[in-house]
Amino acid sequence: MPGTWNPGRWRGLPIKQQPAWPDKAALAGVEERLSRTPPLVFAGEARRLRERLARVCQGHSFLLQGGDCAESFAEFHPDTVRDTFRVLLQMAVVLTYGAKMPVVKVGRLAGQFAKPRSSDTETVGETTLPAYRGDMINGMAFDGTSRRPAPKRLLQAYGQSASTLNLLRALAHGGYAGLHAVHRWNLGFVAESTQGARYRAMADQIGETLDFMAACGLTEETSPQIRETEFYTSHEALILEYEQALTRIDSTTGEWYDCSAHMLWIGDRTRQPDGAHVDFLSGVGNPVGIKAGPSLDPDELLALIDRLNPQDEPGRITVIARMGHEAAEAKLPPLVRAVKREGRQVLWSCDPMHGNTIKSSNGYKTRVFDQVLAEVRAFFAVHRAEGTYPGGVHFEMTGQDVTECLGGAQAITEEDLSDRYHTHCDPRLNASQALELAFLIAEHIREERATPAQPRALHG
Ligand code: PEP
Ligand code: CO
Repeated sequence: MPGTWNPGRWRGLPIKQQPAWPDKAALAGVEERLSRTPPLVFAGEARRLRERLARVCQGHSFLLQGGDCAESFAEFHPDTVRDTFRVLLQMAVVLTYGAKMPVVKVGRLAGQFAKPRSSDTETVGETTLPAYRGDMINGMAFDGTSRRPAPKRLLQAYGQSASTLNLLRALAHGGYAGLHAVHRWNLGFVAESTQGARYRAMADQIGETLDFMAACGLTEETSPQIRETEFYTSHEALILEYEQALTRIDSTTGEWYDCSAHMLWIGDRTRQPDGAHVDFLSGVGNPVGIKAGPSLDPDELLALIDRLNPQDEPGRITVIARMGHEAAEAKLPPLVRAVKREGRQVLWSCDPMHGNTIKSSNGYKTRVFDQVLAEVRAFFAVHRAEGTYPGGVHFEMTGQDVTECLGGAQAITEEDLSDRYHTHCDPRLNASQALELAFLIAEHIREERATPAQPRALHG
């Protein structure tokens, strides 16, 4: 590696999935402006998340990470942010109550604006234009002006992230997320659904528990955990000009932190151990996710872990497996065994979305609820067989009543997809499907704890 690490060292290394910025001077100007903006998160918060994730690693809690595939400028609205936050709270409370475990909540929010794409261009009829890469880079509309990468969009992404984060902090700490509000989170179309009824029954029991605790002297005043919640942000660190500009030295420890979010992850397409993305994240102190698709071989994963976590600190690395429901049983065990054999500390999380994207017969990019669920089941089964801890899940979901994924208790069909298909990139679970999944996962964790797996001898 050339020289000691600094936030700009990645610039000398091979890099994938980047836009061809037409105006380099404009980009440099934007980077300079961004480098003078206030940090979005503090290093101390990122460190606290790392401690929380270390507890997950050790099997004492569970990670719930979720949100939009891609946030959008046009659809930015406080109600949308609140609704996604609310469903994450509902899912978290279902998991906490069902599995009797603390849940670490991390949103794909306040910065998730850049997308890797399978092709650099898109062709419609006779016209070929640059692919849409997320609102931080260009526009979704299929015309030359909109598809031209525009650096000023980085500033808009920063601005929207700052106001989203401001709202999230208020929601988390200003009373909305207090456990006494557990019934209020069950609003809108979810309340009418089967999941809503199930949730209400659970919320009634929580209400009674809170009354009992209050009688024992444990109230909002004595226990801040009843009054507020911890909520963290994350996104894929794809556009390194943006990430570098928000990378600052922490005055407490003298270490570098990427202050654009608490946690950053490396996409499945940009995880080359000698590439720019890995180099950049190797030098910041934040918790880091590694997306692990079916092409990742065990030695490569170990090389990544060495590069990103040489001190083997728990909470630093979350491996987010996204194998697909059919491949998971074959592809995940070799990775789990390699990490176990080397005695490395890793939080294993499951993204059951990105390996299960299909095209419907009427042309929509979609996902089948039962296949999403099948991958979650496979993830739990593999960890049970290997004697390792299935620590978390990673979803693309929204609080809105969209029709983007097939099935679930609402039985969304291919014909329904056109009703409310609004995603800017990949299909998301709607609030009711997300809640349904949370109930199923809570059952899995409960079973896991009722009959702990016998660690099995390792093969190979
Ligand atoms: C994503 O999380 O939106 C994504 C593109 O994932 P992956 O890198 O796993 O394909
Ligand atoms: Co996606």
